[in-house]
Amino acid sequence: MKAKRRAVTAVPRSPDRNAPPTRRTTRRPPAGGIAPAGPLVRESGRTPAPTRLTLESVDLSVDLGRGLVLPNPILVASGTFGYGVEYGDVVEVDRLGAICCKGTTLKPRIGNPTPRVTETPAGMLNSIGLQNPGVDAVIEKYAGVWTSWKTPVLVNVAGESVHDYVEVARRLDGVPGVAGIELNISCPNVGAGGLQFAIDAGAAAEVTAAVRRATDLPLLVKLSPNVADIRPIARAIADAGADALTAINTLSGIAVAPGRRKPLLGNIYGGLSGPAVKPVALRIVYEAAQVVRIPVVAIGGVTELADVLDFLAVGAVAVQVGTAIFADPTLPVRLVDQLAAECAERGLTSYRELIGTALPRKAERPSSKGVEYRP
Ligand SMILES: Cc1cc2nc3c(=O)[nH]c(=O)nc-3n(C[C@H](O)[C@H](O)[C@H](O)COP(=O)(O)O)c2cc1C
Repeated sequence: MKAKRRAVTAVPRSPDRNAPPTRRTTRRPPAGGIAPAGPLVRESGRTPAPTRLTLESVDLSVDLGRGLVLPNPILVASGTFGYGVEYGDVVEVDRLGAICCKGTTLKPRIGNPTPRVTETPAGMLNSIGLQNPGVDAVIEKYAGVWTSWKTPVLVNVAGESVHDYVEVARRLDGVPGVAGIELNISCPNVGAGGLQFAIDAGAAAEVTAAVRRATDLPLLVKLSPNVADIRPIARAIADAGADALTAINTLSGIAVAPGRRKPLLGNIYGGLSGPAVKPVALRIVYEAAQVVRIPVVAIGGVTELADVLDFLAVGAVAVQVGTAIFADPTLPVRLVDQLAAECAERGLTSYRELIGTALPRKAERPSSKGVEYRP
């Protein structure tokens, strides 16, 4: 779906604090950009005519592979937007790029003991424990509603074994309303001593390849930041047949209970999210984007347009908004409008020109790490 038609008059103040200064003395139509309707500023004493760059002229669509083309690159992150239906009254869900629904497992899960969340400086810790009604109930209850939405819904899948993941994928395969799968592999592999799939290249590749064989649905695989080097893992997942990577899941952490006699969370460990994790997410996206040829979707601490632009600059083709939704569920849709306005203001017909601008240029600094993804 395209952004709402709205004319940008003159030069709006950019909400991007890192934006290059806007040229104010002359107008030079950018290559492939939007044709100017009049001078931006007074030249030779004439009154300036207002610029008429429409947001509709900006192409925000993004191709994540295997036929999954999103209307725009602003998604909502798993676990922070329920199954989408919960937000129908407050959010124009049809204007989102995609919805990653809550983590879904083969069998219903009651989740972890309470307390499950606590606030941290610039973020939060959660240990929800994948509470969900199980894949069959999710399909029965929500897939029908999803079919009526323009916005693609990606089902976030979790499991305790390769078999779990495969079985959930098999049940989702071909279900109307399910546009794709996002694999949450930050889960313990019970048969392998509880080692998380996401922290081992071999295990991550094994589960990715097995799910790939089980379904033709577009397959996104979500990276964990809790590793020393993301590059071999990103490569292994791409080689195993993922259509796209998403990065990052939460960072492992704990908090201490009042009285200081035990950890605060009922599960002891929780996942850190919010603005505090953004630099880590930027680093992981920057590194992953240089070693794979599949698209990378960024997640981690997005609260404003500048964050979106930062993630695009380090090679992400799209961005998910997570924790910030708890404070303002309307933020993702506003970011869609702001991104379109930013592009129109810069004279860009497509946001894709913003992708990868902060990655090393191969010509200047040949990289042994691989090839940047540039759509
Ligand atoms: C309460 C909560 C629940 C989450 N549940 C899931 C989940 O079920 N599956 C998953 O892959 N990620 C889950 N996440 C991780 C988010 O999708 C996201 O990767 C992470 O929070 C970083 O983004 P943010 O800083 O914008 O929140 C959850 C995060 C939060 C805060």
